[in-house]
Amino acid sequence: MRTPIIAGNWKMNKTPAEAKALVAELKPLVADAKATVVVCVPAVDIYAVKEEIAGSNIHLGAQNVHFKESGAYTGELSAAMLKEAGVEYVIIGHSERRQYFGETDATVNLRTLAAVKAGLIPIICVGERKEEREAGYTNALVEYQTLIALNGLTDDEIKNLVIAYEPVWAIGTGLTATDEQANETIGVIRAAICRKYGKEVADAVRIQYGGSMNPKNVKGLMAQPEIDGGLIGGASLKAPDFSLVVNFDK
Ligand code: 13P
Repeated sequence: MRTPIIAGNWKMNKTPAEAKALVAELKPLVADAKATVVVCVPAVDIYAVKEEIAGSNIHLGAQNVHFKESGAYTGELSAAMLKEAGVEYVIIGHSERRQYFGETDATVNLRTLAAVKAGLIPIICVGERKEEREAGYTNALVEYQTLIALNGLTDDEIKNLVIAYEPVWAIGTGLTATDEQANETIGVIRAAICRKYGKEVADAVRIQYGGSMNPKNVKGLMAQPEIDGGLIGGASLKAPDFSLVVNFDK
C-alpha cells in the first residue's frame, strides 16, 4: 500500500548544463514509472532542473537545508528558500554530512523540523558504520538516530516523510547490504516507529534502502516487504542506469 519512492542523490556532481541534459534524457525513460521519482540535485542546479522537469513525473529534491529561518549563516540555504525555488524533497543527515560537516542527530532533528514547517518532505538518512555493525550496535544505533530525528513532529508529519537506511559501509563501495540485511534493519526502524507512534504511522512511513543500489540488485532489494524504495548515488548519474532502477518492476 506504500508507493515506492526512488530518489537519486547526485551529491557534488553535475553543473547546471549537465543537470539539464541528464533530466532531459531521463524524462521519457521514467515517464511510466509506478514509483515516485525524485532527483536530489546540487543547489545551483535547482533552477535548471525545475524548468526541465516541468510537466513531467520527476520531483525535485535538495541535499541539505539549514535549520534557521534566516540570518547570519553564510553559505546556507533556508527551507523557505528551497520551497520557493520549487524544491519538494530534501535529504537530511546524509552520512557524508555527518562524516565531513559535523552533522549530529540533534541537528538532523532541527533540520527536519524546519523542513516540515516549510512544507518540504524530508528524506532522513540513518545507518551504521562498518565497525558499529561488527560490534553489534546496528539496531540500537538506527533506532536512536531515527527517533531523535522525528522528535517533535506530529503523527501526520511523520507519515508523510521518508527515511533512508544507508549503511555507511555500503555507500560508494560497491558493497551492498544483502536483501535480508537491508530488510531486517529497515524492519527494526519501522518497529521503533511503531512502538513510539503506533502502527498506523509505522505502516505509512516510507523507508528506502541506500548504498550501491543499482540496476542489478534493485529487484532483489525491492522484493523485500519492508523496503519501500532506494536512495541512489552513483547509479543516478546516468539516465539509462537510473531509469532501470526506477523501473525495477518492469
Ligand atoms: P551510492 O549509490 O553511490 O553507493 O551512494 C548511496 C548514497 O549515499 C545515496 O545517498
